[in-house]
Amino acid sequence: MQSHPVQTQVISMDGAWRDAALAQLRQGAVVAVPTETVYGLAGDATSADAVAKIFAAKGRPSHNPLIAHVADSEMARDLALVSPVAQALIAAVWPGPLTLVLPLKAEASATRAVTAGGDSIALRCPKGAIRELSAALGKPIAAPSANRSGHVSPTRAEHVLADLDGRIPLIVDGGATAMGLESTILDARGDKPMILRPGALTQDAIAKILSVSVSDVTVADSAVDAPAAPGLLASHYAPAVPVRLDVLPSDLREGEAYLGFGDHTLPEAMTLSLSGDLTEAAAKLYEALRTLDAQNPASIAVAPIPNEGLGHAINNRLKRAAAPRRVP
Ligand code: TXA
Ligand code: MG
Repeated sequence: MQSHPVQTQVISMDGAWRDAALAQLRQGAVVAVPTETVYGLAGDATSADAVAKIFAAKGRPSHNPLIAHVADSEMARDLALVSPVAQALIAAVWPGPLTLVLPLKAEASATRAVTAGGDSIALRCPKGAIRELSAALGKPIAAPSANRSGHVSPTRAEHVLADLDGRIPLIVDGGATAMGLESTILDARGDKPMILRPGALTQDAIAKILSVSVSDVTVADSAVDAPAAPGLLASHYAPAVPVRLDVLPSDLREGEAYLGFGDHTLPEAMTLSLSGDLTEAAAKLYEALRTLDAQNPASIAVAPIPNEGLGHAINNRLKRAAAPRRVP
């Protein structure tokens, strides 16, 4: 769909990635960069042009807002009204895998396509490269996960290349991301924080920091990213082949690939964690889905994952990977 295919360069984090990435960002181009969660497709959040390129490269519907990544809490305050709940979490967690939805300030520098025209903005201060780039630019950076819209999120530079080759000029290769699941998105506008997307920071960890109970709006219904895209079908994070959930090894069907966990495993099959460790499973999930997808099995059958701690976020993604697909 892009009329001028570009040459996609991959640059290692051992080299001069900073200058190369900054040069692209300063001219309004987009760059794929790792965070502690997944790779993001970064662009200057104050540039309408750059943000339009993000939506175009991903094939993302324009009504789905982006996260603005900031260098520090001061930059967050320039963009949004930071509630006391948000302030407590910022102090405890940032830089880290927590995105806060807050009221957008009228004078915020972010171009309005970032919020899809809405009156709230999602803010995150990630660990590592995107934060460094935001600090060097002195500007917020808009960055969705660096995959084609609806596809599995990228945890390696190779995954970004597979989805966006010829659509973006530069990928910064920092190897596999540490956590492998996206940030937790929390609506922190009121005094009753609500999880809008479970993610790398658990509900319990947030509740502990705040000493209040935290609700998770994604548990009650089958909706998608409820805040941004109500009414859409749940399919997301989806490989090309179908996905079946809660499959015991004994129920594997002809032609299926098995993705095991803990005691539920098969000889030769891939497993998310042989020891049943949810942190390890989170880190491996997207890579495993991409690898099995490339083998083109009849479907991917996934072992049951306990619905506790990080298991909530893993099951949330798996449910969408297995959901009926949107008509393209
Ligand atoms: O870990 C992450 O969060 C990664 C890395 C790159 O930072 N980013 C990421 O972005 O997962 P993305 O665009 O793939 O997912 C962001 C989600 C979308 O579902 C979007 O609808 C939601 O955040 N979102 C963005 N702004 C929002 C807002 N103002 N209110 C509610 N949801 C919002
Ligand atoms: Mg995404």
